[in-house]
Amino acid sequence: GRPCYILALETSCDETSVAVIEDGKVIRSNVVSSQIETHKAFGGVVPEVASRKHVESITLIIEQAVREAGLGLGDLSAIAVTQGPGLVGALLIGLVAAKSLASTLGLPLIGVHHIAGHIYANALVHELEYPLLALVVSGGHTELVHVEAPGRFRIIGRTRDDAAGEAYDKVARALGLPYPGGPHVDRLAAEADSALPLPRAWLEPESYDFSFSGLKSAVLAALNTARMKGVELPADQVARGFQESVLDVLTEKAIRAVRETGSRQLLLAGGVAANRGLRTRLEERCAEAGIPLLVPPLSLCTDNAAMIGAAAFLKWERGQFAPPYLKAEPSLSL
Ligand code: KG4
Ligand code: ZN
Repeated sequence: GRPCYILALETSCDETSVAVIEDGKVIRSNVVSSQIETHKAFGGVVPEVASRKHVESITLIIEQAVREAGLGLGDLSAIAVTQGPGLVGALLIGLVAAKSLASTLGLPLIGVHHIAGHIYANALVHELEYPLLALVVSGGHTELVHVEAPGRFRIIGRTRDDAAGEAYDKVARALGLPYPGGPHVDRLAAEADSALPLPRAWLEPESYDFSFSGLKSAVLAALNTARMKGVELPADQVARGFQESVLDVLTEKAIRAVRETGSRQLLLAGGVAANRGLRTRLEERCAEAGIPLLVPPLSLCTDNAAMIGAAAFLKWERGQFAPPYLKAEPSLSL
């Protein structure tokens, strides 16, 4: 029959993004307008500023996404939107726009969990085989998610303090690197020929949880001690030491979780999935362990609406539509 065209909106943080996804698989358009330049001056995302920026751009970006898809509003099948988690003011902008479109066009509304979006970014480029295990690493999340069947999520491990991306951004800031610092730390780490020795937060032997704030504090303490002694710690060695510690823990826990849950694939997802070091390390370890590894292209790692459309398609197939009073949920659980 007629293809399913989902118009998806993502405004949970500092990217205003709108996409059109055909049959859950084909990206007809994926417009991403980043606010990073605006937030750089503040060294991080300012929620109030983010909301204002979303308001300014959302209408134009919706028009652009529909135009680039080669469609008209009348061709759409459903409107999907990130419901949470995220900044409440930012989420509300996407929700209001999505609800207006759904009600004026008489289309179903689909609420999507942001992390489900990150995970299903992989479905746009790979064939998923269940059960699978997703390692979700972003600025706001670090989670090991067992996906037993399409859309059936069970979180088996999570960070107890900072998210991985948050730790990257804080360490980058201490090294005087611009926001967001993850890519800069990644680049510096690759250039280093030695690593500052730093601790690994393994936690309890059975635990799949993570902790990155102790590591971040260890970096800050090392930088302070060096400064007091009047010596300069080379930034690349600090970056390398930090990255090695993060990669060791992420990789080992993910591989153990794949084995213990009997998962058929390991999926990498979230902004930190763009990390070259992490991708390389996981490729090596998964090859040794005989585990199929799925990694999204860089453009689908950081926040974008195509991934929201991909996750929304699962709900479309099941007729899981949202009520017209769908609320923004800043700490929505998966
Ligand atoms: O998924 P995302 O776009 O937003 C959230 O949902 O949080 O992730 C953004 C995070 C930032 O913390 C950024 O520093 C980090 O992803 N990031 C990286 C890299 N590229 C982006 N971290 C480490 N290495 C990278 N190459
Ligand atoms: Zn995200």
